[in-house]
Amino acid sequence: MNQIEIIRKKRDGLALTADELDYLISGYVSGTIPEYQISAFLMAVYFQGMTSAESAILTRLMRDSGIVLNHDTIPGFKTDKHSTGGVGDKVSLILAPLVASAGLYVPMISGRALGHTGGTLDKLEAIPGFQTQLPLDQISKQLEDLGVVLVGQTEDLTPADKKIYSLRDATATVNSIPLITASILSKKMAEGIDALVLDVKAGSGAIFETQDKAWELARTLVATATEFKLKTSAIVSGMEQPLGNAVGNWLETKEAIETLQGGGPSDLLDLTLLLCAEMLCLAGMSSDINAGISILRQKIDSGEAFSKFLEIVARQGGDVSVVEHPERYPRAKHERQIKSEADGVVKSIACREIGNISMALGAGRHAVEDKIDYTSGLVLQKKVGSAVKKGEALAVAYSDSDDKIAACHDRLRDAFVISDNSVSPPPLIHGKVDASGEQRWDVASKAFV
Ligand code: URA
Repeated sequence: MNQIEIIRKKRDGLALTADELDYLISGYVSGTIPEYQISAFLMAVYFQGMTSAESAILTRLMRDSGIVLNHDTIPGFKTDKHSTGGVGDKVSLILAPLVASAGLYVPMISGRALGHTGGTLDKLEAIPGFQTQLPLDQISKQLEDLGVVLVGQTEDLTPADKKIYSLRDATATVNSIPLITASILSKKMAEGIDALVLDVKAGSGAIFETQDKAWELARTLVATATEFKLKTSAIVSGMEQPLGNAVGNWLETKEAIETLQGGGPSDLLDLTLLLCAEMLCLAGMSSDINAGISILRQKIDSGEAFSKFLEIVARQGGDVSVVEHPERYPRAKHERQIKSEADGVVKSIACREIGNISMALGAGRHAVEDKIDYTSGLVLQKKVGSAVKKGEALAVAYSDSDDKIAACHDRLRDAFVISDNSVSPPPLIHGKVDASGEQRWDVASKAFV
């Protein structure tokens, strides 16, 4: 077989066989096919797409490029959630202990921040001492003992995705539905789970800005997962403004802690409860979303969800005292309010720009090896639809560098568009795709219809 012929075939819009895809993927992982040829292949896929059969083959090959975990000795229902990425999305930190406190088993393998979106691992590592790289036997043992483990991808798990994802990031080929599908599902299937809930985001802070593309991705993810007999549903949610108020690692962890303790912003709590309730439904532990939400609220109110988070932190070497007393965490050296220059109502918030600003304040990385400043970022004081007076704070910026705050000041102010007219907040939930089809979210009845 010849890689140039395979690339040419995809470039010309033809479907590749399992053997051809295997030749490329295994050749790239083993080092016999160079990056420049895989880059050309990825760009060909970006423009020509893939058939559903090719998508499924690519997913399987990427899953099987490393080991696939098996937790069959644990009798409970194993499940996980994956988000396609957004700004201020700290849902995983709340969701994992919450559903584990309700009896589900969650072997969650997460990623790091790259680009304008944050990463669960960085938010967890903001807790001093928290270990996200655990050997496989420890992952299994913790899952069995606590019902939940929050770790990063190891060298043994989906190495093909690890290599291909960084190449996609460097070659502007991230936004490809078959490539996203194979990337997400290969990783999640390697976790050895029985069911998966996806949070597919649409909006200016998401991989896909339009709802049409987000629905298409949700349909492809569910169809492909179903071919592997993995029970999956995909919630399509809005990313027109950051989720919650905090953007930046420790700031987000702190907001997640508040939410686990029964506080937190309502959009963050509502989306988290919905995703968790969907997990309970897939596990057969709840007959419908609203019944699931009642179970979960009770787990928050009783303190069980927060206790589960403390157990995870303690088991993974983190400093429990800062989780119990977030006020003891070191503050960023500098902070500044960004004030509105007009009276009115917040009409929109440039979501991707907020992610980029948080990065510029020190919260993100431009390259995988960049160091993160955990205390930096920003906290929104106003969201879309909030009334604001001239001189009132729109956001507070935090950084270890006053120069960085100064450089971001006008950008942050300009990310908020203020209008004279009343404005409704953008929808948080658009709907859901599962094996039985598509349903829209009805805000009035708080149900899928
Ligand atoms: N998240 C992933 O894990 N992979 C993608 O390709 C996009 C989002």
